Amino acid sequence: MPTISAGAVEDLPANRCVEIGDGRAVLVRVGDQAYAYRNECLHQASPLAGGLIKDGVITCPLHFWRYEADTGAKCGEPELRLDSYPVRIESGTVLVELPEPGPSRSMREMMLDHARDWDRGDG
Ligand code: FES
Repeated sequence: MPTISAGAVEDLPANRCVEIGDGRAVLVRVGDQAYAYRNECLHQASPLAGGLIKDGVITCPLHFWRYEADTGAKCGEPELRLDSYPVRIESGTVLVELPEPGPSRSMREMMLDHARDWDRGDG
């Protein structure tokens, strides 16, 4: 897994999810700690980037599913968790291990996948 630098921990906003790694992940700050999650809500796979963080809880910007910011567990259903990535802080800099980017998909491919999920009742 490649490690990317996400800048100084004190420069991270504490109130919203920040997109990193070309949109593959979001970084979340809780106090002086940082956590990284796949940029994909468990509800309908909408990006979590821009989601608000308040009282240690991330809120998805689309339909407001809520997750514990320090664990990625869905509030009220802790068996559901966001995919997380290892984070460490060295000399105040946030370092995140992200998987290699997958092959890019066209908008048509993404819409077809979404339509198939919807048809199966997953969407
Ligand atoms: S996509 Fe996140 S709550 Fe619906």
